[in-house]
Amino acid sequence: MIALKNISKTFNAGKPNEVKALGKLSLEIHEGEFVVIVGSNGSGKTTLLNLVAGTILPDTGTISIAGNNATKLTDYQRSKWIARIFQNPLSGTAADLSILDNFRLAALRTKSKGLTIGKNENFKALVREKIAALGMGLEDKTEQPIGTLSGGQRQALTLLMSVMDECKILLLDEPTAALDPRSAENVICTADALIKQYSLTAILVTHNLKDAANYGTRIIQMGEGEILKDIAAKEKAKLKQAELFEWFG
Ligand SMILES: Nc1ncnc2c1ncn2[C@@H]1O[C@H](COP(=O)(O)OP(=O)(O)OP(=O)(O)O)[C@@H](O)[C@H]1O
Ligand SMILES: [Mg+2]
Repeated sequence: MIALKNISKTFNAGKPNEVKALGKLSLEIHEGEFVVIVGSNGSGKTTLLNLVAGTILPDTGTISIAGNNATKLTDYQRSKWIARIFQNPLSGTAADLSILDNFRLAALRTKSKGLTIGKNENFKALVREKIAALGMGLEDKTEQPIGTLSGGQRQALTLLMSVMDECKILLLDEPTAALDPRSAENVICTADALIKQYSLTAILVTHNLKDAANYGTRIIQMGEGEILKDIAAKEKAKLKQAELFEWFG
């Protein structure tokens, strides 16, 4: 589904503030895998997601997504395959617009499922049904500005919006870092359920080692722009949180 081959990325090359963020990294992620990425600050995790999403382009190497050579495609061109959730619940939604209008905007972006969006009752009903399935009691608040919701509620809705877009790949960069423990648990559970329900290929970057141990089908540790460890499903299932702590010495 995603193949990175010999990817390198250096910021501010040749200047005193030069940073080698990724060096000759190769990584293949198969359809339906849920990859968790851990690693210290500055190890290149976000840079890796940026390269997959097309927010930045690599200095060397090739990127293939869903069988297409995506190396030189912009993030907009890749958005038909990729949805992205950030650390800040405020990014990704328009605070002053109602929940329903935010869903309309998201659907317009991809014109998903040939739905007549506008004020269409079918669309409203579909959105309400999907929101109700989250079990957060938000289905009666669809006319309310999305900015009036808590960070956790908003993050859960952002997730739902991105998967309803018919994207096949979900990139999550510390999606719960700004949330209290309970909301964080809710959001990560929602993400896991949606990934399974929509058969998505997903990458989750997290500093939460409990989540890293409990979720996903594969775990990767990054360090100084390289992959230090790459553990597949069978072994990952046996991996304990305590062992993960040891990775960080
Ligand atoms: N746009 C940029 N310009 C200059 N340097 C950058 C840029 N983006 C990232 N870097 C540098 O590249 C390195 C990797 O950064 P990156 O954001 O990928 O780390 P990270 O693993 O996501 O860290 P964190 O856990 O703190 O989020 C860092 O040294 C960072 O300062
Ligand atoms: Mg980061």
